[in-house]
Amino acid sequence: MPYQKIDVRPIAGSLGAEVHGVDLSQQLDNQTTEEIHQAFLDNLVIFFRDQDISPEQQVAFTRKFGPYGPVPFVKPLDGHPEIIAVVKEADETTSANFGGTWHSDFSFQEEPPLGSVLYALETPDYGGDTMFANMYQAYDALSDGMKEMLDGLIAVHSARNAYGTRAKYNFKGLRSMEIETGAEGDKEMEHPVVRTHPETGRKCLFVNPVYTIRLKDMTERESAPLLTYLHQHAVRPEFTCRFRWQDKSMALWDNRCTQHLALNDYPGFRREMHRTTIAGDRPH
Ligand code: SIN
Repeated sequence: MPYQKIDVRPIAGSLGAEVHGVDLSQQLDNQTTEEIHQAFLDNLVIFFRDQDISPEQQVAFTRKFGPYGPVPFVKPLDGHPEIIAVVKEADETTSANFGGTWHSDFSFQEEPPLGSVLYALETPDYGGDTMFANMYQAYDALSDGMKEMLDGLIAVHSARNAYGTRAKYNFKGLRSMEIETGAEGDKEMEHPVVRTHPETGRKCLFVNPVYTIRLKDMTERESAPLLTYLHQHAVRPEFTCRFRWQDKSMALWDNRCTQHLALNDYPGFRREMHRTTIAGDRPH
């Protein structure tokens, strides 16, 4: 669509665009809000630069896209129950940064988030980029035979690898975030392997290596070859974009049709982001 209020500049061929000409600290008029929403649907993840916003303004912007999406396991920011701080200190050398494996947010929930907003307070001099991958394109690129088979399959998702009793990502080494692991993380939830986006009507792949633990009615070993193939296929370089953060950059991604990955390549630098989450619906 032709935009009149905003300037939308794609950053890669598959997904991702910077949106210029908007100041998110100000009240947005209806047309600007609608154009931002359209840019979000068209580009799957959109980025804003040089936004001087308070936590309250971030929450207000997030709410334009839907109600607060519950965030389990991670302690919210003091005084701001809708915000989590994604932080890694300069001297933390953990191999498990938050979001450091390809995933879509909280796909283990019955109604996984519609999307998330991430605002950069402090960024490394270099490194700490976030990558995104386009799950429409991942689905579209499959053969007809594979699509037909996947269309009928259900996957089982769980937070257990990240937050369960036997969590394998070592968040304990991440001392700057309070992350709770336990039996709640071991619960399981079923979702279709291919979902239809509720707003665009397009089909996309909806499995990810952090939270998808097996295919329904199959063992983990039986599921592993197909899931491993899909996880690798889904993030082929040509389906991705990579965002270079600066202080005061902000991202808004569509969690229904993307995956993302926070690169952990900035030892010696501090990185602090504020994340807000938008409630979604049950995948169909
Ligand atoms: C996340 O997965 O929500 C964090 C992404 C990032 O820190 O870049």
